[in-house]
Amino acid sequence: MNKHVQILLDGKGTIPIKEKYRWRQSWRFPRYVEEWFKEFCSHGHSLNVCCGRSNIGDVRIDLDPNSTATIISPYHKLPLEDCTFDRVMSDPPWYIPFFHRMWPFYELVRVCKVGGLVAYNATWIPASKSVALMDTYVRQDTDFGIASIVSVFQKYTSRFDKKSGGLTFEEVCPIDELQETLS
Ligand SMILES: C[S@@+](CC[C@H](N)C(=O)[O-])C[C@H]1O[C@@H](n2cnc3c(N)ncnc32)[C@H](O)[C@@H]1O
Repeated sequence: MNKHVQILLDGKGTIPIKEKYRWRQSWRFPRYVEEWFKEFCSHGHSLNVCCGRSNIGDVRIDLDPNSTATIISPYHKLPLEDCTFDRVMSDPPWYIPFFHRMWPFYELVRVCKVGGLVAYNATWIPASKSVALMDTYVRQDTDFGIASIVSVFQKYTSRFDKKSGGLTFEEVCPIDELQETLS
Protein backbone atom coordinates (compact mmCIF):
# COMPACT_ATOMS: atom_id res chain seq x y z
CA MET A 1 0.00 0.00 0.00
CA ASN A 2 1.12 3.57 -0.68
CA LYS A 3 3.01 4.80 2.39
CA HIS A 4 1.01 8.04 2.54
CA VAL A 5 -2.31 6.16 2.61
CA GLN A 6 -0.84 3.90 5.26
CA ILE A 7 0.06 6.90 7.42
CA LEU A 8 -3.46 8.25 7.16
CA LEU A 9 -5.15 4.95 7.81
CA ASP A 10 -3.01 4.64 10.92
CA GLY A 11 -4.36 8.04 11.97
CA LYS A 12 -0.85 9.33 12.56
CA GLY A 13 -1.05 12.50 10.50
CA THR A 14 -2.22 14.27 7.40
CA ILE A 15 -0.61 14.82 4.01
CA PRO A 16 0.37 18.42 3.21
CA ILE A 17 -0.92 19.59 -0.21
CA LYS A 18 1.03 22.11 -2.29
CA GLU A 19 -0.44 25.60 -2.06
CA LYS A 20 -1.60 25.73 -5.70
CA TYR A 21 -3.66 22.52 -5.29
CA ARG A 22 -5.28 23.55 -2.01
CA TRP A 23 -9.03 24.15 -1.82
CA ARG A 24 -10.17 27.77 -2.13
CA GLN A 25 -13.62 29.35 -2.01
CA SER A 26 -13.66 30.02 -5.78
CA TRP A 27 -13.46 26.22 -6.32
CA ARG A 28 -16.72 25.61 -4.44
CA PHE A 29 -19.44 24.33 -6.75
CA PRO A 30 -22.15 26.92 -7.49
CA ARG A 31 -25.62 25.79 -6.45
CA TYR A 32 -26.75 24.68 -9.92
CA VAL A 33 -23.66 22.49 -10.35
CA GLU A 34 -24.08 21.08 -6.82
CA GLU A 35 -27.72 20.23 -7.64
CA TRP A 36 -26.70 18.53 -10.89
CA PHE A 37 -24.12 16.32 -9.14
CA LYS A 38 -26.52 15.66 -6.26
CA GLU A 39 -29.07 14.24 -8.69
CA PHE A 40 -26.31 12.28 -10.49
CA CYS A 41 -25.24 10.69 -7.20
CA SER A 42 -28.78 9.87 -6.06
CA HIS A 43 -28.87 6.56 -7.96
CA GLY A 44 -27.32 3.84 -5.80
CA HIS A 45 -24.04 3.86 -3.88
CA SER A 46 -21.97 6.95 -4.72
CA LEU A 47 -18.39 8.23 -4.42
CA ASN A 48 -17.07 11.81 -4.63
CA VAL A 49 -13.29 12.14 -5.16
CA CYS A 50 -11.77 15.59 -4.50
CA CYS A 51 -14.97 16.48 -2.64
CA GLY A 52 -13.68 19.78 -1.21
CA ARG A 53 -16.55 21.27 0.84
CA SER A 54 -19.33 19.36 -0.94
CA ASN A 55 -21.49 16.89 0.99
CA ILE A 56 -22.45 14.94 -2.12
CA GLY A 57 -21.59 11.24 -2.17
CA ASP A 58 -22.01 8.39 0.31
CA VAL A 59 -18.21 8.12 0.41
CA ARG A 60 -16.12 11.29 -0.05
CA ILE A 61 -12.37 11.49 -0.61
CA ASP A 62 -9.99 14.44 -0.33
CA LEU A 63 -6.54 15.12 1.07
CA ASP A 64 -7.62 18.22 2.96
CA PRO A 65 -8.45 17.46 6.61
CA ASN A 66 -10.79 20.50 6.59
CA SER A 67 -12.81 19.04 3.72
CA THR A 68 -16.04 17.04 4.01
CA ALA A 69 -14.10 13.84 3.24
CA THR A 70 -15.12 10.61 4.91
CA ILE A 71 -11.74 9.16 3.86
CA ILE A 72 -8.53 11.22 3.63
CA SER A 73 -6.59 9.81 0.71
CA PRO A 74 -4.66 10.91 -2.39
CA TYR A 75 -6.77 10.51 -5.54
CA HIS A 76 -4.27 8.33 -7.37
CA LYS A 77 -4.37 5.44 -4.89
CA LEU A 78 -7.93 5.03 -3.63
CA PRO A 79 -8.20 2.67 -0.63
CA LEU A 80 -11.38 1.17 -2.15
CA GLU A 81 -12.32 -2.16 -3.73
CA ASP A 82 -12.82 -2.62 -7.48
CA CYS A 83 -16.40 -2.29 -8.86
CA THR A 84 -17.97 -0.84 -5.68
CA PHE A 85 -19.95 2.26 -6.71
CA ASP A 86 -22.95 2.90 -8.99
CA ARG A 87 -22.05 6.57 -9.39
CA VAL A 88 -18.59 8.12 -9.17
CA MET A 89 -17.90 11.85 -9.48
CA SER A 90 -14.73 13.91 -9.35
CA ASP A 91 -13.79 17.60 -9.47
CA PRO A 92 -9.97 17.54 -9.46
CA PRO A 93 -7.73 20.64 -9.38
CA TRP A 94 -7.51 21.94 -12.96
CA TYR A 95 -3.80 22.79 -12.68
CA ILE A 96 -2.63 19.19 -12.53
CA PRO A 97 -0.09 18.53 -15.30
CA PHE A 98 -0.99 16.42 -18.36
CA PHE A 99 0.75 13.22 -17.24
CA HIS A 100 -0.88 13.42 -13.80
CA ARG A 101 -4.41 13.24 -15.20
CA MET A 102 -4.51 9.63 -16.32
CA TRP A 103 -3.99 7.38 -13.33
CA PRO A 104 -6.38 9.25 -10.97
CA PHE A 105 -9.11 8.87 -13.64
CA TYR A 106 -8.33 5.14 -14.02
CA GLU A 107 -8.82 4.85 -10.26
CA LEU A 108 -12.33 6.35 -10.58
CA VAL A 109 -13.11 3.82 -13.29
CA ARG A 110 -11.68 0.91 -11.29
CA VAL A 111 -13.94 1.50 -8.29
CA CYS A 112 -17.06 2.04 -10.45
CA LYS A 113 -19.34 -0.98 -11.02
CA VAL A 114 -19.73 -2.31 -14.55
CA GLY A 115 -22.81 -0.48 -15.85
CA GLY A 116 -22.19 2.40 -13.43
CA LEU A 117 -21.49 6.03 -14.38
CA VAL A 118 -18.50 8.32 -13.82
CA ALA A 119 -18.94 12.13 -14.02
CA TYR A 120 -15.78 14.23 -14.26
CA ASN A 121 -15.49 18.03 -14.11
CA ALA A 122 -12.33 19.46 -15.69
CA THR A 123 -10.97 21.53 -18.55
CA TRP A 124 -10.06 18.29 -20.38
CA ILE A 125 -11.98 15.11 -21.29
CA PRO A 126 -10.39 11.96 -19.85
CA ALA A 127 -10.48 8.48 -21.43
CA SER A 128 -10.13 4.81 -20.52
CA LYS A 129 -10.55 1.55 -22.42
CA SER A 130 -13.13 0.46 -19.81
CA VAL A 131 -15.63 3.27 -20.37
CA ALA A 132 -17.71 4.87 -23.11
CA LEU A 133 -18.27 8.62 -23.22
CA MET A 134 -22.04 9.17 -22.92
CA ASP A 135 -22.48 12.95 -22.51
CA THR A 136 -20.53 16.17 -22.23
CA TYR A 137 -21.82 19.44 -20.71
CA VAL A 138 -19.95 22.70 -21.01
CA ARG A 139 -20.01 24.69 -17.79
CA GLN A 140 -19.18 28.39 -17.53
CA ASP A 141 -20.24 30.27 -14.43
CA THR A 142 -19.54 33.83 -15.61
CA ASP A 143 -19.29 35.48 -19.03
CA PHE A 144 -15.67 35.41 -20.23
CA GLY A 145 -14.84 33.11 -17.30
CA ILE A 146 -13.01 29.81 -17.65
CA ALA A 147 -15.19 27.00 -19.00
CA SER A 148 -15.04 23.37 -17.89
CA ILE A 149 -16.55 20.20 -19.25
CA VAL A 150 -18.60 17.76 -17.22
CA SER A 151 -18.04 14.47 -19.06
CA VAL A 152 -20.17 11.44 -18.21
CA PHE A 153 -18.93 7.90 -18.89
CA GLN A 154 -20.46 4.45 -18.53
CA LYS A 155 -18.21 1.56 -17.52
CA TYR A 156 -18.73 -1.49 -19.72
CA THR A 157 -15.93 -3.82 -18.60
CA SER A 158 -13.79 -4.51 -15.54
CA ARG A 159 -11.20 -6.24 -17.74
CA PHE A 160 -8.70 -3.44 -17.25
CA ASP A 161 -9.28 -2.88 -13.53
CA LYS A 162 -5.98 -4.42 -12.45
CA LYS A 163 -4.18 -2.77 -15.35
CA SER A 164 -6.24 0.40 -15.55
CA GLY A 165 -6.57 1.72 -19.06
CA GLY A 166 -4.61 -1.34 -20.19
CA LEU A 167 -1.41 -0.06 -18.55
CA THR A 168 0.17 -0.67 -15.17
CA PHE A 169 0.55 2.10 -12.62
CA GLU A 170 4.30 2.31 -13.29
CA GLU A 171 3.73 2.48 -17.05
CA VAL A 172 1.34 5.41 -16.71
CA CYS A 173 3.38 7.49 -14.30
CA PRO A 174 5.95 6.78 -11.60
CA ILE A 175 4.47 7.30 -8.15
CA ASP A 176 6.88 10.12 -7.26
CA GLU A 177 5.59 12.15 -10.18
CA LEU A 178 1.97 11.44 -9.32
CA GLN A 179 2.56 12.85 -5.88
CA GLU A 180 3.30 16.20 -7.51
CA THR A 181 0.35 17.76 -5.67
CA LEU A 182 1.85 16.83 -2.32
CA SER A 183 4.35 19.04 -0.48
C1 LIG B 1 -11.62 21.82 -7.38
S1 LIG B 1 -11.49 21.39 -5.67
C2 LIG B 1 -13.01 20.57 -5.35
C3 LIG B 1 -14.10 21.56 -5.00
C4 LIG B 1 -15.43 20.92 -4.68
N1 LIG B 1 -16.15 20.56 -5.87
C5 LIG B 1 -16.27 21.85 -3.84
O1 LIG B 1 -17.39 22.21 -4.21
O2 LIG B 1 -15.81 22.24 -2.73
C6 LIG B 1 -10.29 20.09 -5.71
C7 LIG B 1 -10.03 19.37 -4.41
O3 LIG B 1 -8.99 18.40 -4.62
C8 LIG B 1 -8.27 18.24 -3.42
N2 LIG B 1 -6.96 17.65 -3.76
C9 LIG B 1 -5.85 18.27 -4.26
N3 LIG B 1 -4.87 17.39 -4.48
C10 LIG B 1 -5.36 16.17 -4.13
C11 LIG B 1 -4.82 14.85 -4.14
N4 LIG B 1 -3.57 14.61 -4.57
N5 LIG B 1 -5.61 13.84 -3.71
C12 LIG B 1 -6.88 14.08 -3.26
N6 LIG B 1 -7.45 15.31 -3.23
C13 LIG B 1 -6.70 16.34 -3.66
C14 LIG B 1 -8.20 19.63 -2.81
O4 LIG B 1 -8.02 19.56 -1.41
C15 LIG B 1 -9.57 20.22 -3.22
O5 LIG B 1 -10.49 20.11 -2.17
